[in-house]
Amino acid sequence: MLFTFQNITYTLGTGPARQITVSGSVSEGGVLVVRGPSGAGKTTLLRVLARLQPCDGGEVFLQGESWLHIPSPLWRVGVHYLAQKPALFDGTVADNLAKPFETKVGSKHRLDPGQAKALMQELLLDANLWEQDSRTLSGGEAARIAFVRGLLIQPHVMLLDEPTAALDDQAREAFYGVLSRWLTGPGRAALLVSHNNDYKVLDRVSFLDIGPGQRGE
Ligand SMILES: Nc1ncnc2c1ncn2[C@@H]1O[C@H](COP(=O)(O)OP(=O)(O)OP(=O)(O)O)[C@@H](O)[C@H]1O
Ligand SMILES: [Mg+2]
Repeated sequence: MLFTFQNITYTLGTGPARQITVSGSVSEGGVLVVRGPSGAGKTTLLRVLARLQPCDGGEVFLQGESWLHIPSPLWRVGVHYLAQKPALFDGTVADNLAKPFETKVGSKHRLDPGQAKALMQELLLDANLWEQDSRTLSGGEAARIAFVRGLLIQPHVMLLDEPTAALDDQAREAFYGVLSRWLTGPGRAALLVSHNNDYKVLDRVSFLDIGPGQRGE
């Protein structure tokens, strides 16, 4: 298995404690679809797996290596969370795409503008967006720019939180085309949260159901 999480235990909300425990895994080239009603804890699970927030227990393995042995910033290069609400910084699209390479762990590589622009084109994004202020992007444009930025980081695992929610049919098809090709590379897999069934275009899909009283496999 490329990516495995065992007995990940986390608490939802601040009211009466709702604690859930989930386990799951995804093999190279595979996609694990995380399902459950709104508020079930899907986003929280992805954020925990990316180490963007703490959990109460459990262990995660990337290519057999426990997260206990990998510093968080490095972990987040290998396990990339694509937020439900695209997280872009102030600045142009180009600034946003370059940002990951300015961090300590990202500084080994540089932004390849040619590669970035090719991905933008495949995702049906106008080349003129390159110099546009990221705050002025439409919701669907911002979602795709954040996806491009994630791809450029070259993670092993993409944690995709409703990545197509703001996309029209054409852009959605383009998104899955790029994702499918990305998955054919070595050492890659994805977790996906989606409220519609558009992931059916993907091969090698498995499921993890979470929610009240449920325990994932
Ligand atoms: N930082 C927080 N403080 C308080 N409550 C939180 C926080 N983060 C999440 N919650 C609560 O935890 C529950 C699970 O939230 P989460 O975002 O993981 O759900 P979800 O399954 O992704 O839902 P959706 O399908 O609507 O995106 C919700 O009830 C939410 O209000
Ligand atoms: Mg969510």
